[in-house]
Amino acid sequence: MVSRREVLQVLTTVPILGGAFMALMVLVRYFKPTARGGIRGLVAPPDQAGSSAQPVALLSELKEPWDFKDFIYIRNSVEYSSRKIQGAKIPGFVVRLPESFADPAHPKSGFLVVQRICPHLGCTFNFVKDAEELAGSYNYTPPKPTHPYFACPCHLSVYDPTRKQSAGLSGMLRGKVVSGPAPRPPRYMDFEIKDNQIVITGTEGGGVG
Ligand code: FES
Repeated sequence: MVSRREVLQVLTTVPILGGAFMALMVLVRYFKPTARGGIRGLVAPPDQAGSSAQPVALLSELKEPWDFKDFIYIRNSVEYSSRKIQGAKIPGFVVRLPESFADPAHPKSGFLVVQRICPHLGCTFNFVKDAEELAGSYNYTPPKPTHPYFACPCHLSVYDPTRKQSAGLSGMLRGKVVSGPAPRPPRYMDFEIKDNQIVITGTEGGGVG
């Protein structure tokens, strides 16, 4: 017959063992944050790589200076949870720059590829070719000769794709802020030119501001 003392021993030992197991799992997750809990966490596959390369435009769509195309890039971020990966749809622009801004030895320099998410408070900005529209809708009168600008409808930030500005650790980026409250140029997107297409391979991280 089980004594009262043995019952009490079991009742106190089980929580202690449970607590020790939980502490062990916390330690495991510290060294492997995306591992699933439980025993499976010890044999979980390695973290998945980020987003795959994604073609977004044909070179034939961007023949002339200031031709542009908007696109959606799917970014997969490693997430610190049992779901592991979180997807995000990031709107972007690819713009063909005039030859005077391109280095013939580096074909990529003839294109500008940026996120459309405004670094001020996260609205989606536009690519505006018309100087009258810039003046009337975005409160910015561009100097002559004029060219297209990125312009945000929310608080009227305007970015000049021909000029560079420091973006902190990201270095000098095209898209200098020429009007409005934006604190920095648009976030860049990494790309390569492959099979006559612009292929996005990654993007600058960070949220607004
Ligand atoms: S969100 Fe674009 S200017 Fe404020």
